[in-house]
Amino acid sequence: MPRFYVTTPIYYVNDAPHVGHAYATVNADALARWHRMLGDDVFFLTGTDEHGAKVAEAAAEHQMTPNAWADQVVSRFTRAWDGLDISNDDFIRTTEPRHHLAVQEFLQRIYDNGFIELDTYSGLYCVSCEDYYTEDQLVDGNCPVHGRPVVQMQEDNYFFKLSAFEDRLIEWYESNPDAVGPAGKRNEALSFIKGGLRNISITRTSLTWGVPVPWDKDHVFYVWYDALVNYLTAIGYGTDEERCNAWWPAVHHLIGKEILRFHCVWWPAMCMAAGIDPPANVFVHGWLLVGGQKLSKSLKLTEIAPEVLTEDFGVDPIRYHLLREVPLGSDGEFSYEGIVARYNADLANNLGNLVSRVATVVGSKCAGIGPAPNHQSALADPASAALAAAADAWGRFAPHEALSATWSLIGSTNAALEAAEPWKLEPGPDVDAVLGDALEALRIVSLLITPAMPSTAAEIWRRIGLSGNPADRRIPADASWGGYPGGLAVEKGSPLFPRRST
Ligand code: ME8
Ligand code: MG
Repeated sequence: MPRFYVTTPIYYVNDAPHVGHAYATVNADALARWHRMLGDDVFFLTGTDEHGAKVAEAAAEHQMTPNAWADQVVSRFTRAWDGLDISNDDFIRTTEPRHHLAVQEFLQRIYDNGFIELDTYSGLYCVSCEDYYTEDQLVDGNCPVHGRPVVQMQEDNYFFKLSAFEDRLIEWYESNPDAVGPAGKRNEALSFIKGGLRNISITRTSLTWGVPVPWDKDHVFYVWYDALVNYLTAIGYGTDEERCNAWWPAVHHLIGKEILRFHCVWWPAMCMAAGIDPPANVFVHGWLLVGGQKLSKSLKLTEIAPEVLTEDFGVDPIRYHLLREVPLGSDGEFSYEGIVARYNADLANNLGNLVSRVATVVGSKCAGIGPAPNHQSALADPASAALAAAADAWGRFAPHEALSATWSLIGSTNAALEAAEPWKLEPGPDVDAVLGDALEALRIVSLLITPAMPSTAAEIWRRIGLSGNPADRRIPADASWGGYPGGLAVEKGSPLFPRRST
C-alpha cells in the first residue's frame, strides 16, 4: 500500500490561530483526505512549536509560566482544528517528552558526526521571526517581515557547520528536481545555497525555555533546531526505528514561503549531517493577504478568527474557500466580500442549486425515487474528465484546480438539466433519463468534493439515497460512470447553501 506522510508547519503558541494557519492546515487536511480515498496509508501530522524567545515573551506578558501559557494556546489550536474538521492522525507538541528525546538523539548524532562546534555569535535577531538578519537585509533598520526593531545578540553558542553542506545540497537539488515545489521556490532555495552558506548558531544560554543540549547543560537548543525535528519525532525517530524507516524520507512538508530557508536549506542539511535522507518533498505555499499585507499574529493586523468565520458561513464553505480561492503556491487576497461572492456563485447558485433542483424534480416527476443513469450519457465524458483532472491536480498539490474541474462537472450537469427542462415534461422515460444522469453526476461530485467538504459530500450522498460515507469509497474505482443504482429514495431537504446578501 503506498504511503502518504503529510505535515503542516508546527505553529508558534505566542497567540491564537488565525486564518493563515487554517489555510495551511485545511490544505494539508484535504490532501490527506484525498490520499485516504486513493487507498494510501496516510499519516497526517500537525502540532505546535512551543519553545523559544517569542513564546517565552508572550507568556511573560501574560504573567504566566511558558508551560501554562502554551497549554492554554494549544487548546485554542486543537479547538480550531476540531471546528474545521481537520483529520490529523497525530498532534505534536514540542514540549512533550517524546520530542525532547528525539531532538537530543538527532542532535547528538550530528554532534558525534563532527558537524557541531563552539563559537561566538554576534548579530542581529528578530524575536518575532526567531531568525537572524544581516544589516543589509533590514528595512529602515527594522525586521523586513515584521517591521519591528531587531536586537543585537552576542553569545557563546554551538554552531551547526552548514557551510560544509553547500556542495551536497546543490547536488541533492540537482538530482531531485521535484524535491522542492513550486519551481520558483526551488530556484529561490537553490540560488540561496549557491550564494554561499554560513554556519548557524543552534543553541542559547540566554534562555532556558528550550530542549536541553545533551552534551552541555548550560545550553538549550535554538527553537528552530528543535522544531524541525518534530517531523521525525512523530514517526518514532530514536525510539521506533522500523516505524521511522517506514515513513521517512517519503514525506511531504507543506510550509509557508517565509520558512523556506529553514525547510529547504537547513533541514535537508541537518538530515544529511545526522546520516539520514533529506525529506522527499517540500511544497511551499504563499500568503493570504489582507489589503496587500500578510495576515499575521505578530503584526496583529486583523482578527479574523477561523471560528467566527465557520460560525457565520459553516465549516465546509470556509474549507472550500481556503482551498479554492488562492492557488496553492501563490499569494492572494483574503476578504469577507470574497468569501460571500464565492459562496453565492459556487455553492448557492451552482452546487446547492443542482442538488435542490434534482431532488425537487425527482419528487414531482418520479415519486421521489431516483432513476438509474444511462450507460451512454452525454455527462459520462465530463464526469471522467473531471475525475482525471482532479486526480492530476491533487497529485500536483493544486486543490483549486481539482475543485475547479469538479465545478465544470457541476456546470455541465446544470446545463444538461436546463437544456432538457425535465420539470416541464410528463413523467416517463425521458424524465427518468435526464434525472438518472444528474443523480449519477451528483454521486461522482460527492466523491470529488469529499476532501474539501466532507460533511456536504456525506449529506448529498445520503439525500440521493446512498448508504455509507463517500469518504470510505475508493478513487478512481468508485468514481467511474454508472455507479448510481437507481430505485433509491431521494430526499429533498432544505437548501444546502442559502444565498447570502452580505
Ligand atoms: O513559522 N498566509 O510558525 P507560525 C498563509 N513555528 N499561511 C500563513 C499565513 C498567511 N498569512 N500566516 C501563517 C512558524 N501561515 C514555526 C514553524 S515548522 C518546523 C516551525 C501559515 O506560527 C504558513 O503555513 O509563524 C506558515 O508557514 C505558518 O503558518 C507559520 O506559522
Ligand atoms: Mg510566522
